Amino acid sequence: MTETRQAVKSIEWREDHVRIIDQTFLPSRTVYCDIRDIGQMWDAIKKLKVRGAPAIGIAAAYAFYLGIRDVRDISYPGFRIEADRIAEYLASSRPTAVNLKWALDRILVTIHALKDKPIEEIKAKVLEVAKTIHQEDIRTCKQIGLNGQELVPKKANILTHCNTGGLATGQYGTALSMIFHAHFAGKKINVWVDETRPLLQGARLTAWELNEAEVPFKLVIDSASGHLMKSGLVDLVVVGTDRVAANGDTANKIGTYNLSVLAKAHGIPFYVALPLSTIDLNLEHGDLIPIEERDGDEITHFGSTRMAPKKIQTFNPAFDVTPAENITAFITEKGIIRPPFKENLRKLFE
Ligand code: MRU
Repeated sequence: MTETRQAVKSIEWREDHVRIIDQTFLPSRTVYCDIRDIGQMWDAIKKLKVRGAPAIGIAAAYAFYLGIRDVRDISYPGFRIEADRIAEYLASSRPTAVNLKWALDRILVTIHALKDKPIEEIKAKVLEVAKTIHQEDIRTCKQIGLNGQELVPKKANILTHCNTGGLATGQYGTALSMIFHAHFAGKKINVWVDETRPLLQGARLTAWELNEAEVPFKLVIDSASGHLMKSGLVDLVVVGTDRVAANGDTANKIGTYNLSVLAKAHGIPFYVALPLSTIDLNLEHGDLIPIEERDGDEITHFGSTRMAPKKIQTFNPAFDVTPAENITAFITEKGIIRPPFKENLRKLFE
């Protein structure tokens, strides 16, 4: 199996617009969606056409340019007000993934640094920064995979949750990059893919990516993890994350916390793979991470088919927070980070 098979491009800049794979149609159809204005991208992020923390950051960076491109006949102060408004608007699409805010802040810093330059030059630079964020993410994800695969034994059963692959990033992924690279290195792995209720990112997207790359895997329902671990069928768990607080508390797809408790109870290593752009040193601990709540229809319906009675109440948090003490190590592009996390995460930015 060669690395080139793992070449899914979830997002692409094409001359004057962004092309994304509309992930809501996968795996039955590969539908591309051309995004030409900022409102369209806001909607695509909200509806999970493009999703996964790093991919959301890249999408938002390109959307920033789409928003700022049409601002004309304006001096710098007015331009700056527009830029702040655009950043605020894009940040409102999804609250948990800090990569979104990280990308927007990076562009705002660039705009500020160029405040004495002509407006058209600043706009061109915004596009350049968006492309840089995209390319950097591809390199970063590859390095995460190379670093992470060192932790995988020659023969291993690996459990993962949600989708953390090329679809969720510029390419390769985070947790899935570690899995791909263990496979590229010739290790004999089997991946347990959690289906990931309610939107089935595991069943629809991770299964699709692993299938394309010919990585051996089996799809399981989310609630099978306890049984698998108790039966000695899991050697390690690896997941991605949408935001890590300064003390190591980690927000990820709902159900991740359950996995971490089970892994701890069974003495199984629990790893979190992420780029540095997902670490939020401004938040002291995980209780401060905003948790997205989504529409109850995602639970009451399976696709378009209603499964629950009408007019019932629902509660649909999209993420949960795994306490730092349940995490064995973080896998980053700068290496493997072990406890004490508060000190060691901070050191990454020194
Ligand atoms: O709601 P989603 O599908 O955007 O959630 C994605 C996740 O929870 C991923 O694990 C996380 O963003 C890391 S992706 C590399």
